[in-house]
Amino acid sequence: MTDHRIGVIINGATGRMGTTQHMANLLAIAADGGLRLRNGNRLIPELLLVGRDAARLKTLSAAHGGQRWTTSLDEAFAGPDSIFMDCAATGDRPTRVRRAIAAGKHIHIEKPTAPTVEEAMALARAAHAAGIKHGVIQDKLFLPGFAKLLFLKNAGFFGRILSIRIDAGSWIFDGKTQACQRPSWNYQKRQGGGLALDMMAHWRYMIDRLASPVAAVCALMATAIPERVDEDGLLYKVDAEDTSHALVRLENGAVGVIMNSWATRIRRDDTMVVQIDGTAGSAVAGRFRCWTQAAVNTPEAFFGGGQQANMDFRAQWQEVPDTLPRGNPFRQCWEAFLRHVAEDTPYGPDLVEGAKAVQLADLAYRSVAEGRWMDVEPLHL
Ligand SMILES: NC(=O)c1ccc[n+]([C@@H]2O[C@H](COP(=O)([O-])OP(=O)(O)OC[C@H]3O[C@@H](n4cnc5c(N)ncnc54)[C@H](O)[C@@H]3O)[C@@H](O)[C@H]2O)c1
Repeated sequence: MTDHRIGVIINGATGRMGTTQHMANLLAIAADGGLRLRNGNRLIPELLLVGRDAARLKTLSAAHGGQRWTTSLDEAFAGPDSIFMDCAATGDRPTRVRRAIAAGKHIHIEKPTAPTVEEAMALARAAHAAGIKHGVIQDKLFLPGFAKLLFLKNAGFFGRILSIRIDAGSWIFDGKTQACQRPSWNYQKRQGGGLALDMMAHWRYMIDRLASPVAAVCALMATAIPERVDEDGLLYKVDAEDTSHALVRLENGAVGVIMNSWATRIRRDDTMVVQIDGTAGSAVAGRFRCWTQAAVNTPEAFFGGGQQANMDFRAQWQEVPDTLPRGNPFRQCWEAFLRHVAEDTPYGPDLVEGAKAVQLADLAYRSVAEGRWMDVEPLHL
């Protein structure tokens, strides 16, 4: 058994995802002695933290065992590390990824991969032509609740799937009386902001895999909160949508509904809830728990549900037990990508999948601009 070290550049290491997900999970893999490969060898990630603020990087490094760090992406690209993770703010990601591809690095990046489908496909083609391994983070189906939905779908629980409904979001304060919970770049287009660009990236693969591939989309968007206070306490104009609703038509004829907003208050089971209705049964899941109602357990709720307190609708659902393996979703993404690099095992969410996610956002924006349904065309390298 031999230990192999693999260098991973984390650009945006001091950000929320950089620190709490990418750095933390790679360090956890290393702390467990590395990832055990099929041949018995172990692959140990070694990190190079990259950011713009030397003081913050130094502090982060010191708090996590003295990881290597630099403020220079050029230096990172010139070094021996093999994998580039970009989890900095979304804006200008394609430029950084193109530089990484030119430097011969494997690419494993956060979503969305680019602001438009054309740019996203250009990255996928560049990565393919360079012969490097490439992937995008698609973590949500590793969350226990949504993993259970996928398990139900694969087990044939739903029968013919009729609809999928996504209800997601929460209230994000404007920063005037309570601190805004999200960095200001999220609300500025030129920095890669916008709720549709951000979250369609997840809804695309979730709908494709949980129900049926998306065939067409018709969207409505709004900016509910037009002014916010930034990290320096300054008022700024929001030029990106914070509300993004869409109807989608699926290849199997089913209907999808996406209700997504940073200007909504939660009275549901979780911040993200997905319901799938099928002829043989329905299921509702938040990120962590999932409930089902099979056709044979479906109560008569047309006459019977007509009177207040006549029925406890929630009590009529049965929770799916925890029988599936659990692990941090981002760690699972990383382990699969590390195996892809080291053992050439398949990695589903490559940069074409990343482009498909961007495509749904892109089409949603065009649907809003043109006031019509947009068809989803297949994407090819
Ligand atoms: N997979 C998921 O579920 C998930 C969840 C949240 C965010 N994300 C994605 O991760 C990325 C980071 O999101 P976050 O919530 O961690 O944001 P964040 O603001 O906490 O972190 C972003 C980091 O990028 C840095 N940064 C800002 N502008 C930059 C620029 N112009 N150049 C280089 N660095 C810059 C910031 O200083 C910060 O360190 C985004 O692309 C976002 O879409 C993914």
